Amino acid sequence: MEKKQLGPCVTFFPQPTTLVSTVGADGSFDLMTASWAGILSKTPPTMGVSLNKGRRTYELIRETGCFVVNMVPASLAVEADFCGLKSGRDFDKVKETGLTLSPATHVAAPLIVECPLNIECRYTGELELGDYRVVLGEILEIHAAAKAFGEDGSMDTRQFDPLVYLGGIRQYWGLGEKVADAYRDGLSLVKG
Ligand SMILES: Cc1cc2nc3c(=O)[nH]c(=O)nc-3n(C[C@H](O)[C@H](O)[C@H](O)COP(=O)(O)O)c2cc1C
Repeated sequence: MEKKQLGPCVTFFPQPTTLVSTVGADGSFDLMTASWAGILSKTPPTMGVSLNKGRRTYELIRETGCFVVNMVPASLAVEADFCGLKSGRDFDKVKETGLTLSPATHVAAPLIVECPLNIECRYTGELELGDYRVVLGEILEIHAAAKAFGEDGSMDTRQFDPLVYLGGIRQYWGLGEKVADAYRDGLSLVKG
């Protein structure tokens, strides 16, 4: 495959589109779009979100020691983009987007009702990386849309319809079709 060199930049995809919800010591809420987010450890279950140290979201996480990572469905692309363009220092993003908040079970930061997956995190530390802070959060609870589960316990992933972000290209896409089963289909290359 012929390649074109892009240089040292941050073009990488797919990335998740998440909304990080936070609460300040004064009880005010903030929502921020983050695509540099992911699971970092299974034991203990840990989520990492890389935040520019100037974000209000980072300030609030340091104030109250918690945050919630909410998976954004494709239907909320415009609201998520807004939360990635404007700071909570200048806008009440909950009011402007019309999103609904509900209390979490273990942390003071709220869940976004319209998001099909909400991950409650307790701040456990951070990694300093230039202007960014890779914020680590122990996962205390995950709320997953009940409508995605069948009576036999199977999960219909289409119900989540996650919004995919293409970093470097600045586009949002849908998930697309399932192509294989993980931890199984690779076994077809095992010889003997
Ligand atoms: C698609 C998208 C992804 C983003 N991902 C991140 C991210 O992972 N980390 C970050 O620090 N900023 C990210 N941003 C920028 C912040 O969301 C933006 O600066 C926001 O206004 C910060 O809000 P706050 O000041 O209320 O925390 C992203 C923006 C967009 C549109």
